[in-house]
Amino acid sequence: MKKTTRSTLFFAFILIFLSGMFSLATADDDSKEKGHESSQHEQNDDDDDDDDDDERHMRPVNNSTYKAACGACHFAYQPELLPSASWLKIVAAHDDHFGESIALDDESTRIISDYLKKNGAETSSAKRAVKIMRSIDDETPARITDIKYIRKKHDDISSKVLEREAIGSLSNCTACHLGAERGVYDDDYVKIPE
Ligand code: HEC
Ligand code: HEC
Repeated sequence: MKKTTRSTLFFAFILIFLSGMFSLATADDDSKEKGHESSQHEQNDDDDDDDDDDERHMRPVNNSTYKAACGACHFAYQPELLPSASWLKIVAAHDDHFGESIALDDESTRIISDYLKKNGAETSSAKRAVKIMRSIDDETPARITDIKYIRKKHDDISSKVLEREAIGSLSNCTACHLGAERGVYDDDYVKIPE
């Protein structure tokens, strides 16, 4: 009798051991698959948690002087889209701004420069500002659309598409990024106009 109990226990142990091994093996498979997926769609996966974490989006423009002066001809780009050094160059060259001249009095220039200096990409922990800084090394890009990271993200968009009346150029972020004003550039909120 004693012997039977012992062998029953032995078999039970083997069973538990085997099922343990089995679930370990499948758990491992799961995590491998997830790891694989997330490296393939890294962007998408990351973007999902962005929705719960406003810290990782860019801050909407909240400076009225900047918005009035720099949002008159195009979208008032978030300061986090370029390093301060780029912004200060742009402001300093306001007489010769991509073929236009921006009228700026001294007081506005001071307020705008101050705002851009305090909020440039290098000051930000927003995910895409960090990627912008990583992508430019020590350069001082003259445009957001010159940044390698930004160019790469838009590689698939043909010049034919950019020429569409509702778009015009890649500089027109708000044409496609429905959340651009709010600082949201997730691909969940992108719609290319026909
Ligand atoms: C008089 C109109 C006008 C005003 C005002 C203006 N801009 Fe522009 N801006 C332009 C034009 C035109 C372009 C070139 C757009 C293009 O190539 O499609 C441009 C482009 C830019 C770009 C580059 C966008 C890209 O492609 O990455 C930045 C950055 C920019 N402006 C910043 C500013 C700032 C900062 C101010 C305020 C100090 C300002 N702009 C005010 C007309 C203006
Ligand atoms: C013609 C439409 C269009 C315009 C204009 C445009 N974008 Fe995009 N953008 C896209 C699309 C589509 C994607 C998604 C690419 C992908 O699937 O990875 C994207 C991706 C991005 C991303 C990466 C988002 C992520 O995490 O995957 C950033 C950042 C971005 N755009 C910023 C900008 C900025 C800043 C401007 C303006 C200077 C701009 N875009 C103009 C269509 C546009």
